[in-house]
Amino acid sequence: MLHLDKKIIILITSIMILSVSIILGIKSMTSNDGQKKDLIDSIKNIKYYKEANQSRYIKYQKENLNLNNDLVVLYVNIGIDKDFYTDIKPSLRPGTKEILVNKFYVLQSDYIPNDLEEIDDEYQVGGKMLVSEAAASFNQMAKKAQQENLHIRAVSAYRSYDYQDNLYHRYVNRDGQTKADTYSARPGHSEHQTGLAVDVDNVTQTFDNFGNTEEALWMRANAYKYGFILRYTKENEFITGYQEEPWHYRYVGVQIASKMREENISSYEEYYFKYLDN
Ligand code: DAL
Ligand code: ZN
Repeated sequence: MLHLDKKIIILITSIMILSVSIILGIKSMTSNDGQKKDLIDSIKNIKYYKEANQSRYIKYQKENLNLNNDLVVLYVNIGIDKDFYTDIKPSLRPGTKEILVNKFYVLQSDYIPNDLEEIDDEYQVGGKMLVSEAAASFNQMAKKAQQENLHIRAVSAYRSYDYQDNLYHRYVNRDGQTKADTYSARPGHSEHQTGLAVDVDNVTQTFDNFGNTEEALWMRANAYKYGFILRYTKENEFITGYQEEPWHYRYVGVQIASKMREENISSYEEYYFKYLDN
């Protein structure tokens, strides 16, 4: 008799435990679903929200609880929820000063900008070329700096696919690929191939010491007036995947450069996916 009672008690207890587990499970599932729905509802109104990225927004938000929803959507659209050099697509807006080239957007090996022009001799070394609009603006900028007794000189500008290929592999052989990827673009992924990027020095210091010069200070304060932006900074390293480069400027035109400054937008990626991504 006692034996049977014990069995019944065990059975009832088991059923109770099971029921509670099921109820708790359903509750947590519905609260998860609720959270998901809340997130979707609140991000759907963000201007650059994309239906196709919905599940990535949810995942990225969960992994980055400190980010507001605007940034979750923006960063996922940029692609930084993925590893660099994965899911690579053709560069956006090729042939324009708005072109986007980075670790997710690539140029074909035969991409050559069609209006390359040499920078004025006094502001470059070795026949460096930029797209004509960028070259003209660079000349004006260097001239203005010169009037203030500062020297801005282009030491690298347009680079062909093959040139970058050589350069990158030289760095890989020297430092290994992981290290090289932090400071050199893989072929097809360098902005230098667009004819819109320029590395500068101040003639007396090498370009990698440019960051500490008067000229670097002047460039940081004035380059936007000539349509150039500082492309790789400490602040945007997690977006670009490159160490800071105080010497690397990118021509985007005065309008974009001014707007980025006005709105304190630290990377071209953020500007692009906020305003130029259709
Ligand atoms: N050093 C920059 C990232 C380039 O290789 O284009
Ligand atoms: Zn550069």
